[in-house]
Amino acid sequence: MDSDTLTHENFDFRGFDVPELKAVTLAASGPNTDDSAPGITLEHSDKAGKKSGGKAGRAKKGKNVSKETGKSKKNRVGLFTPMGLRDVTVRNRIWLPPMCTYSAFARDGKPTPFHYQHYVSRAFGGFGLIIAEATAVAPEGRISPCDVGLWEDGQIDAWRWIVDGIRNAGAVPAIQLNHADRKASTGCFAVGYEGQSVPEEAGGWPTVAPSAIAFGGLNKPRELSVDEIHGIVGAFAAAAGRAVSAGFQAIEIHAAHGYLISEFLDPLSNERTDEYGGDLQGRARFLLEVVDAVRATIPESMPLLVRISATDWAAGGWDLDQTIVVSKLLKEHGVDLVDVSTGGIMAGVSIPVKSNYQVPFAEQVRVKAEIPTTAVCLITKPKQADKIVSRGEADAVEIGRAALRDPYWPLRAANKLGIPATEAPYQPQYIRGAY
Ligand SMILES: Cc1cc2nc3c(=O)[nH]c(=O)nc-3n(C[C@H](O)[C@H](O)[C@H](O)COP(=O)(O)O)c2cc1C
Repeated sequence: MDSDTLTHENFDFRGFDVPELKAVTLAASGPNTDDSAPGITLEHSDKAGKKSGGKAGRAKKGKNVSKETGKSKKNRVGLFTPMGLRDVTVRNRIWLPPMCTYSAFARDGKPTPFHYQHYVSRAFGGFGLIIAEATAVAPEGRISPCDVGLWEDGQIDAWRWIVDGIRNAGAVPAIQLNHADRKASTGCFAVGYEGQSVPEEAGGWPTVAPSAIAFGGLNKPRELSVDEIHGIVGAFAAAAGRAVSAGFQAIEIHAAHGYLISEFLDPLSNERTDEYGGDLQGRARFLLEVVDAVRATIPESMPLLVRISATDWAAGGWDLDQTIVVSKLLKEHGVDLVDVSTGGIMAGVSIPVKSNYQVPFAEQVRVKAEIPTTAVCLITKPKQADKIVSRGEADAVEIGRAALRDPYWPLRAANKLGIPATEAPYQPQYIRGAY
């Protein structure tokens, strides 16, 4: 399927009802123009928010000045500019976002040959950072019975060959760690019950949550005790340690889309009256404890990413202002990049789904919290993606569904953007077939 045919369907993260599409105004910011992007580095965007490089008006006219932007081409950061995160250098800014494949068919949390093929082919396709799908830190934290996991040491080896394959192809392997709480134990293509809770007799399990509030039509969860919360913090840290043993080079904590961590953050799903609820400090406590525990487990040299939903799109819920406050805290706690998504906590909200609709959130977090960000969702075309990076709206872009239909998206993008084949991320075996 050509990217032009991608419709503006909403993405609901678990096959639940697609909300009616309705345009809303994003209060925080409109899309940047080159001249309005505040404080964005053109030289290198590893330090978000720091001014450097030439601003459009100041760039000297001449052959190193882009006609389109009026900016110095020499210092221009584009899709194929490498990016440093701690001791890791990512070869470009086209990243694969985490996407569940529900393909641990033995229900043991172990990735299969399917996962090897899936991830390594996208590494061959030129992606810079490959973030393996939501990986459960506890068996009851799986979204479906067929989710992958890292809740026990026996799962480490099953990841290792995938990690090696990704690295050998020149990409950086990262993994998203998750606990799905009240959205756990749901169906998938391999199990059935899609969009529903899987009954216990079919391999489902009782779910837990910060508060005993059900999501949509799913089973009602049980409220977690404080001891259980501490246990899950430990499970994130232990899973991160296993990811390091498997050879992953970066960790992403899933704090988005209405799974456990984002449920704690959100006043609409967190009604606790203890230290894990109440004001923003209380609701963010669990996330920061997870971050601290993971950061203390992984090497200092290893980047730590957090995926966050910047808004619920629901009145009285989680929003951009709270996201910015928490992103500043994340930076103080050793997080290197915020992967900015939206939604997923509430069923049936209206979302203004269209190309780039999440990009202004990534840009606002990047500028106001002064932390590198990625933008994701409905970024499908090379020039569209390149502009997001070169304008400083995000440090990298993630290409999700478009990469499911085209694992070689980055190689095609290189061609469209006029990057010589010798500088594009071809495997040497494939260079004779270059565009
Ligand atoms: C099949 C599928 C599975 C997904 N699984 C995850 C996941 O495991 N973790 C996550 O944070 N987001 C997940 N997402 C959301 C994607 O990471 C991404 O944010 C979303 O697809 C929007 O980007 P796109 O328009 O480029 O596809 C999933 C998306 C798809 C299509």
